[in-house]
Order: sequence, then structure tokens, then C-alpha cells
Amino acid sequence: MNLYTRRKFLRTIAVSGTTAWAASRLGLLSDSGLTAGLMTSQGGMLDLSLRAQMDRLSLAGRPATLYSYNGSVPGPRLEIRSGDQVRIRFVNRLSEPTNLHFHGLHVSPSGNADNVFLEIPPGESQIYEFSLPRSHRGGTYWYHPHVHHLVARQVWAGLAGLLIVRGELDDIPEIRDADEQFLVLKEFGLDASGELLTPDPTPQIMQGREGDLVLVNGESNPTFRIPKGGLLRLRFLNASVARYYRIKLEDHPMYLIATDGGPIGEPFELRELLLAPGERAEILVRGERSPGRYYLVNLPYRRFNMGMMGEGGMMCGMGMTGGRPSSSAEPIVLATLEYKEGERTLPLPTRLVPVEPWPEATVQRQLVFSHSMMSMGGDAFTINGSSFDPERIDAAVRVGTVEEWEIVNGGGMMMMDFDHPFHIHTNAFQVVSENERSPRFRAWRDVVNVPMGESVRIRIPFRDFSGRTVYHCHILDHEDLGMMAVVEMRA
Ligand code: C2O
Ligand code: CU
Ligand code: CU
Repeated sequence: MNLYTRRKFLRTIAVSGTTAWAASRLGLLSDSGLTAGLMTSQGGMLDLSLRAQMDRLSLAGRPATLYSYNGSVPGPRLEIRSGDQVRIRFVNRLSEPTNLHFHGLHVSPSGNADNVFLEIPPGESQIYEFSLPRSHRGGTYWYHPHVHHLVARQVWAGLAGLLIVRGELDDIPEIRDADEQFLVLKEFGLDASGELLTPDPTPQIMQGREGDLVLVNGESNPTFRIPKGGLLRLRFLNASVARYYRIKLEDHPMYLIATDGGPIGEPFELRELLLAPGERAEILVRGERSPGRYYLVNLPYRRFNMGMMGEGGMMCGMGMTGGRPSSSAEPIVLATLEYKEGERTLPLPTRLVPVEPWPEATVQRQLVFSHSMMSMGGDAFTINGSSFDPERIDAAVRVGTVEEWEIVNGGGMMMMDFDHPFHIHTNAFQVVSENERSPRFRAWRDVVNVPMGESVRIRIPFRDFSGRTVYHCHILDHEDLGMMAVVEMRA
């Protein structure tokens, strides 16, 4: 660690869910029953039933009343390959409407495919069906509910799962031989009896809700084994409603190999990995240190300024319990890597999967994300001055064209400012510049953070699919407060 000596680091570290954490350090917890299942496509077809339901579960050793998919939090991991067919018999056993969105997939947004305008009423079911194009990039995608006004709360309650597309990256020999782990980063806010805490409209919902029980795959500080001399592939999903993760691994560089939209051209060395809500990334870690235990930590990240409130710089956000400062103000241990004997030495791969240069754009647009306090309790978060209206088409685009969008973080009133992670459905994009700076490497993305006072330019090729879908801020409370708009793709 550069910032801390190990001991100092340990002294200053904040512990998420202290008791559970201490118990798991002592090996007292097993967390059985929460391990997400795995469902893999067979013969080009993934056919499954998925139920959204309310459950009483054990979460990091504590009782918790949550929403789950098929009884697990996070939901089962689905694995498919490009060209596969997917058929999901979805049942809503909740007492409110919900639906499914396949975040990051390049599939149809219409009919009973990735259609976020469908709402499945309580007690009803829906068959979701789509096929992945043969050319679909492999990568780390995910599924979650997407009914406007209910998204933040339902994801907060536990609804999210990984959707993995296997592809070219998985066939690179060093990566095929690497150990692989999935890390769903998702925190919870529970009271003593395990009921979900309800955040206050101001400031918690305006800021975006955060909880103080920060977990990986529903576990507190799980241990992952890294082969001595070998490679460990870590695949991260930020499934939190609003929390940003700024990830650092003690004593080890991280080699980025994939972002949201799939693999990058060659490994890119990172000292820290910043993941906005909805964002994914894959890294390789080399087992090149002396055998032992190393912490994967989350460092503080300041994602908003609350003008009149929370002065002093550190109090960015009050926690959900007892008015303590949010854990986002202090480092947190997310997981531990522990060395094991490796069978053989694996080098880092030098080449991954080429990313084509961004195409020329023929249409330009500007999107200004801002908010006002005018209508507290109403929709106060806007894109180009309007809050979400499913009947209005905000951007009409032609299938087969490339557009350049400038996304401007326009701030807001009362000296309050937030970062806004931009996300669009159906088509991935490339970042052309961030506040006039060129990106450090080429990558396909579907989430890009637009920090306070900054702007980002992206190029989006609208490929294959016509129909209506959405783009929005992936701080899901902001989306529910209106920071979402409709794009219609016309053939
Ligand atoms: Cu992660 Cu519109 O979604
Ligand atoms: Cu999405
Ligand atoms: Cu936002």
C-alpha cells in the first residue's frame, strides 16, 4: 500500500457490520443458503424459471427480510454464449409490479425481450425471450428490475444478478487457466430485526441511498484464494443503488482486462479501480507476493457536495443508522485474498481482444443532467430540463448511424452537486473525451461517470435493433426521481 503502512491501515480501517465481520474473521460464520446458484445454457439454449419474491434470509450472519430471485441474494448467475437463445419464465410473487432488464445486452428492446416498458403485476408471470447475436461481445452483464419509481427500492431490497456472456476473452490460454471469481458489490441497510431501513427523502434519497452493511456476494469479507505464481481473474459488478466503489488491492497491482462492454485490447495496469453504480470491470491479479493474506479495500470517494449541509468535507452522506457518517467516508475491507500453492506459473497475457477505433459520428447531441429543489417529493431530477415521461420521445435516432453525445453535468440549485453515472440500454458506446481529456485506452462501455462540473463525450453506434428504450442516471434514486429519457431507434 502506498497510502498506509499496513498497521496504520488496519488501525484506520472501518469495518462494515462490525460483529458479523469479526465473527467471520474468527471463522464462526458459514453463510450457507445464500450462495448464488449458477445456470448455464445447454445446447445453445438457456431456459429457466425466475421468481421475484420476498424472503427471510440470513445475510452475513444476520437475519434479513429481502427481495430475492429464486431465494438467493444476489440472484442466480446466468451464463450464456454469443448466439444463444434465452427463455425466462418470470413470476412476480411480490406485492407490487416489477419486471426484468438485461443490463448491457445488445438484444431487442421490444416485445418480450429486453423491454423495460413491460410491467408485471403482482401474482402474474411473463415469458422473456431473446437471442444474442453471434457477434455479441463476451462480458460481465447483469439483470435487475426496471419499473420507474420502484427501481431503487427493489434493487436496494436485493434484486440483482449476474449475466455472464462467455466469449473470446475466455478462450485466451492464460485467462482460461486463471482462477476466476465473481464479486457482486452490494450493500444493505437493515434495522436490528433485519427489516430494510427506509431512507429519508432528504437528503438520503436525493443523494442516493447507501447502507452500512457493505457485502460481496451477500457475504462480509469473503476470502478468495490466489494461486502462488498464477493468475486470479476478478469480475466485479457494482450492484449498489448509489454507492461508488474505489477499489484497491493491498501490495498488488490490478491489471484491467475488461470494462462494461467486454474485453479491452491489452491489460492496463491500475492502482485503483473506480466503479460507479451499474458499472462492471474485470481485472487480473498475479500471485507474485509472499504467501499470506491481502485485503481488497474500498477507499472513500466523494460523489456529491451538499452545499449547506455536511460541511467539513468528510461528512459526505449520513449513514442509514444512528446518524453516523456514511461508511463511504472511510476505507472498508471488501474481501481477503489468500495465497494457495499454484500448480504452475502463468504469465500475464499480452494481447486480449482488439477494440475497433470509434466510428465517425454524423449526428451530435448534448444532454444536460441537472436537478432542482423546486418540487421536493416530485420529480426534481432532469435531463435537458425534463423529467422522465414514457410517452415522450427525447431522442429519435436511425438504426445504422453513429451519434456523438456530449453529456454535461449541469449541477443544481442550493450549491448541491452530484456525480451522475450515465447509462444507455441496447447499444454500447466508446468514450471520446472526459472533460477534454482523451481516454487512456479504448473500451466499449454502457456506464460512464460524469463527475460534478464535468462533461463526457461518447460515440454510440445504433446497431441492428429498432424500438424504444431508455438512457438514465444509474444512481437509481436519481432515475426514479426523473433523470431518465426515451430513445427511439428507427429502422
Ligand atoms: Cu442497469 Cu436502465 O439499467
Ligand atoms: Cu441497463
Ligand atoms: Cu444522478
